[in-house]
Amino acid sequence: MTESLLPDANLPLPRHIAVIMDGNGRWARRRSLPRLMGHREGVKSVRETVTACAEMHIDALTLYAFSTENWGRPSREVTGLMRLLRNYLVREVEEMIENDIRLVAMGRLEQLPGTVRKALDRAMAMTAHCRGMVLNLALSYSGRTELVDAVQRLAAGVARGEIAPENIDEAAIGSFLYHSELPEPDLVIRTSGEQRISNFMIWQIAYAELFFADVPWPDFRQPHLYAAIREFQRRDRRFGLVPGAISEKAG
Ligand code: FPP
Repeated sequence: MTESLLPDANLPLPRHIAVIMDGNGRWARRRSLPRLMGHREGVKSVRETVTACAEMHIDALTLYAFSTENWGRPSREVTGLMRLLRNYLVREVEEMIENDIRLVAMGRLEQLPGTVRKALDRAMAMTAHCRGMVLNLALSYSGRTELVDAVQRLAAGVARGEIAPENIDEAAIGSFLYHSELPEPDLVIRTSGEQRISNFMIWQIAYAELFFADVPWPDFRQPHLYAAIREFQRRDRRFGLVPGAISEKAG
């Protein structure tokens, strides 16, 4: 890769990149392969994206790996995806530690099969001391369920008399979301040419820049990531303000 294709070193990088990894099935279909082969190839893109983001010292990378809706896919595909996930967690943990990556996950994790839960818990525990990038896997995740879970916990706090209804503001709601300690995503990438959010971090991406890559996820590699970041660096982020009035918000 030539220097000019790298993100601009003089401009801020996104602090948190969130990725909707889409197009695995179509990638496979175009090659007359089973859908699972697309997911398997997609794991290579996961590895390359994680390494590239860690090398750039991005604070957080969230990957939308499995939605609550994905449980409705044919059982062979779901089982295959769960196996890929488990293998990834088992095989990559040492590399995560070497790259100082802390693994976390968000979603209805209790719905995952025991083998995946076990590998996930182990990888999270083994990387808990890492202080570089946070890799956040969205698993059995949906933005609306996240809000439902947050509202239930908030309502329980109100019922116990710990939270006064008049004190519920944006910050309070945000604090009940999964991993509220992470900065909100400032760049969302979706692959495969689809231009939808699909129930992904619907609260946190209110001011994120959206980047839609034409390539399916298995073809998304480091040059595509760099292109998305360069485009992010060209965007004029205003947060509803006028130019010049944006201070620390842009981060
Ligand atoms: C969407 O493509 C992709 C998924 C539902 C799964 C993504 C999973 C991986 C990339 C592999 C495992 C993840 C990790 C983190 C190791 P699609 O199947 O909906 O594609 P289509 O729209 O072309 O059918």
